[in-house]
Amino acid sequence: MRTSLIVAMDRGGVIGREGGLPWHLSADLKRFKQLTMGHHIIMGRKTFESIGRLLPGRTSVVVTRQSDFEAAGAVVAYNLNDAITASSGDEEAFIIGGAEIYHQALPLVDRIYLTEVAADVTGDVRFPEFDRTQWTVLERTAQPADERNDHPHTFSVLQRNR
Ligand SMILES: NC(=O)c1ccc[n+]([C@@H]2O[C@H](COP(=O)([O-])OP(=O)(O)OC[C@H]3O[C@@H](n4cnc5c(N)ncnc54)[C@H](OP(=O)(O)O)[C@@H]3O)[C@@H](O)[C@H]2O)c1
Repeated sequence: MRTSLIVAMDRGGVIGREGGLPWHLSADLKRFKQLTMGHHIIMGRKTFESIGRLLPGRTSVVVTRQSDFEAAGAVVAYNLNDAITASSGDEEAFIIGGAEIYHQALPLVDRIYLTEVAADVTGDVRFPEFDRTQWTVLERTAQPADERNDHPHTFSVLQRNR
């Protein structure tokens, strides 16, 4: 199984504000849906609550330290490794955030589906610093701002150098 991470960040690494996303990017949501459809999506409990529902067509795996946490229709895991193991029948599992989970997942993942938002937004959670020289860009496409996308952004696929 390939273990991948998918994230959208601004120029300074901001990924969230007040428990939600600090932008509306319709093209990014569409790409997220296309990439993750049919797969396991692994997320921290806070991201699960910020999404507020199960995403159809995908298996949600929620990571929490709360032994009594319940999420109908989702798989609950008590650490990231167990969440990855719970996804192991899949060809590709996607770690979808948030910051606390990205921090733990970054050393483990094979691939990053990265959206770079060409803006400097105000936020309270950031993606961890990472060394881009350890990653090869497999593809890169640009998306302009328009009425459905707050900012221009770029989609990249990064593969870890082995
Ligand atoms: N831009 C993007 O691509 C993107 C993607 C996803 C999320 N976000 C944003 O990121 C923010 C949320 O991120 P966050 O860092 O605050 O929270 P988070 O990573 O979504 O969730 C943190 C929670 O995960 C659980 N957890 C973390 N590590 C664990 C471990 N090793 N074992 C067991 N449980 C563990 C804990 O849950 P318990 O407290 O229940 O124990 C912890 O409180 C929101 O603003 C969201 O919109 C942005």
